[in-house]
Amino acid sequence: MPENTRILVVDDEIVIRALLVDVLAEEGYSVETAGNARAALDVLRAQGNFIILFTDIMMPEMNGIELIREARKICPTIIPIVMTGFATLETARAAVKEGAYDYVLKPFSISEIKVAVSNALERHRLANENARLLEITELFNISEAIASIHDERQLLRFVLTAALERVGALRGSIMVTTEDGRALEVAVSVGVPDEHAKTVVAMGSGISGWVAQHARPLLIENIRQNPGIIEVSRRLRDPSFISVPLEHKHPSTIGEHGPGVEMPRVLGVINVNEKKNGGQFSEGDLKILSIVANHTAAALENVRLLNDVQDAHLATLQSMAMLLEAKDAYTHGHSERVRDYSVLVARKVGLSQQEIEVLRVSAALHDVGKIGVKDAILTKCGPPTPEEWAMIRRHPTLGYDVLSRVPHLTKEHLQVVRGHHERIDGTGYPDGLRGDQLAPVTQIIVVADAYDAMASDRAYRPALTQEKIVEQIRRFAGSQFDPHIADVFLELVERGELHP
Ligand SMILES: [Fe+2]
Repeated sequence: MPENTRILVVDDEIVIRALLVDVLAEEGYSVETAGNARAALDVLRAQGNFIILFTDIMMPEMNGIELIREARKICPTIIPIVMTGFATLETARAAVKEGAYDYVLKPFSISEIKVAVSNALERHRLANENARLLEITELFNISEAIASIHDERQLLRFVLTAALERVGALRGSIMVTTEDGRALEVAVSVGVPDEHAKTVVAMGSGISGWVAQHARPLLIENIRQNPGIIEVSRRLRDPSFISVPLEHKHPSTIGEHGPGVEMPRVLGVINVNEKKNGGQFSEGDLKILSIVANHTAAALENVRLLNDVQDAHLATLQSMAMLLEAKDAYTHGHSERVRDYSVLVARKVGLSQQEIEVLRVSAALHDVGKIGVKDAILTKCGPPTPEEWAMIRRHPTLGYDVLSRVPHLTKEHLQVVRGHHERIDGTGYPDGLRGDQLAPVTQIIVVADAYDAMASDRAYRPALTQEKIVEQIRRFAGSQFDPHIADVFLELVERGELHP
């Protein structure tokens, strides 16, 4: 049996202590003794890493059951075995109920002690194995979840929450490297006072700056013993701190290092501070955070690349929409104006950032289906014939069909494009949806699109005056337009914040 299996024996009778030391030392265990519970707690505090605690139950001052309770606070994984000379089995059973793993009745035989120790060690081994398995499973689950998130902010929030939970920390932040690579700024934080939630630190300065610059993790068990970082420590309530770099290694295909050379880049750092129950972070915690950080860095890089590709794709689509309008002097710049009006109203109405983003993209593309309508019809002088109207009315569904093939446009985007000629009374086209079937983003574009159409010259009529437009929007609020959105729109027009 390895010598590092440490056993603490607590009994007020010196004979019992001596007997157990003899038996256990003979078996190769490392044994410490204490004559009372207080002395035992002192030993635990000083040395900590015991696996088994043999304790008498009846002792002066603090009994064995109380000792077990206190010992667990210092050393949560310790396995207590009680010895009772009071011969009542009930006392021993009560001790087991209170958390003792096993009991031996005095007077005991040597073999009884050996069996009790061997059982306790088996339990220790299984508990360790379980803990390791649980850790691997949890890390696997975290990695899987990280890889499935495609929004940067959501990704960082998830990682920080998981990291804090995994290492039992109460505070933390993820800082990301600024675009110029010269500083780090807080992207998400938990439990950090407001005045530090927007902190920016120069690369190389403070703990985070050092970790990012050197691409090396840092575990500080007692920050106050590190005078070099005393500035940071004043802000921290708790002295224990871990900072790990979000380092992405990727094969570089250009530059002086030649193709395929691993060029690490630090995308940011994960910081955690204040371990629950006043404890200190361990090397194990550092290892876990480093694994989480590796997965996060890879996922973050992917999310950013995906966003770049999507942005480029959308920019191409928007250019196409602009080119389409540029052919027609009457609709030139229409989609961009509708986008700007829509975003203005969406902000005023209080839509979420995500909804505003959906509106920004889909408003710029809303008339893209006109690509399938003959130019002669779109640019005709004079009102269209019924057949021509039927052709024009197909453009929301044509746009919807074309954009359905674009992988990163969501159904929310597509519904705005399809629904921009609907009316809340259900008499619009193409689906005749009613107000309660239309999302707020669609209801906004309905007003914005109509406003810009009225404010623009058409081949068959000049632009309406501002007064006339306001009158029309007011008149059709409740039938064509959502009344609340029409009100907000008119308020912006009246204040001069929205104009053609
Ligand atoms: Fe349209």
